[in-house]
Amino acid sequence: MLADMSMDIPWGSEGTTAMVGNVGLITSRDESGKPNIMAAEWTRLISYAPALFAVHIGPGKKSLLNILETKVFGISITSKNQGWIASVAGGSHGDEENKVAALKELGVKFREDDETKVLLVEEAALQIVCRMIKKEELGDHVMVVGSVENFKVADSPAPIVYHKRKYFDLSGPLPKPETEELERIKLVVDKYRKSEITK
Ligand SMILES: Cc1cc2nc3c(=O)[nH]c(=O)nc-3n(C[C@H](O)[C@H](O)[C@H](O)COP(=O)(O)O)c2cc1C
Repeated sequence: MLADMSMDIPWGSEGTTAMVGNVGLITSRDESGKPNIMAAEWTRLISYAPALFAVHIGPGKKSLLNILETKVFGISITSKNQGWIASVAGGSHGDEENKVAALKELGVKFREDDETKVLLVEEAALQIVCRMIKKEELGDHVMVVGSVENFKVADSPAPIVYHKRKYFDLSGPLPKPETEELERIKLVVDKYRKSEITK
C-alpha cells in the first residue's frame, strides 16, 4: 500500500532528471518465439546472493506481456557506444515493429542463450539472463524481479550514463578533497563515533 501523502513527480520534470542511471536493453520473446527489445533506465541489481535484478516496466508494454508469458528475459547494460540502440529499442512498441530485425540489419550483433533462448546484445557492458521470480505493481510501473541464470561482463565494460534524457560516458573519477580537508572530515566523523559520544 502506498502512503496517502504520496505526491507525483511528473515524467521528464526536474525531480526525475537530477539523477543518473544505467540503461538496460530488455530482451524478451512472445509465446511464438518472436523477439522484442525495449530500453529501461529502471534496471538495477537488487541482491548479490542470490543475484537478483529488478526492472520496472510500464503496464501494457509488449516486453512486460512477453516476460509475464514466458518468465525469462535478458538484460544488456548499454555500453557507451550503444545509446542509439536504446533509442531505437525505446522508440516504438514491439507489437507495431520488429525492432530486433531492424537492429540486426543496422549491424547490432545478438547472441542467444542456449538454455532460455533469450537474446543478449553483444558488447553490452553486462549481459544477463534472468528468470522471473516476482512481479509487483508499484505505482505506475510493474516491478519484475529476475533471478540471474548467467551473466557475462564485457572485456572492458564502459557503461553509458543516462542523464536528462541524454547519454554520457564515464569521463573519469573526481579528485579527492585536499589532505587538510580529509583530516578535518576524519576529526569530525571520529568525534561522532558512538564510543566517543557516550563518554
Ligand atoms: C533511455 C530510455 C529509458 C527508458 N526507460 C524505461 C523504463 O525504465 N521503464 C519503462 O517502462 N520504459 C522505459 N523506456 C520506454 C520504453 O523503452 C518504451 O516504452 C518502449 O517502446 C517499450 O517497448 P515495448 O512496448 O516493445 O516493450 C525508456 C526509453 C528510453 C529511450
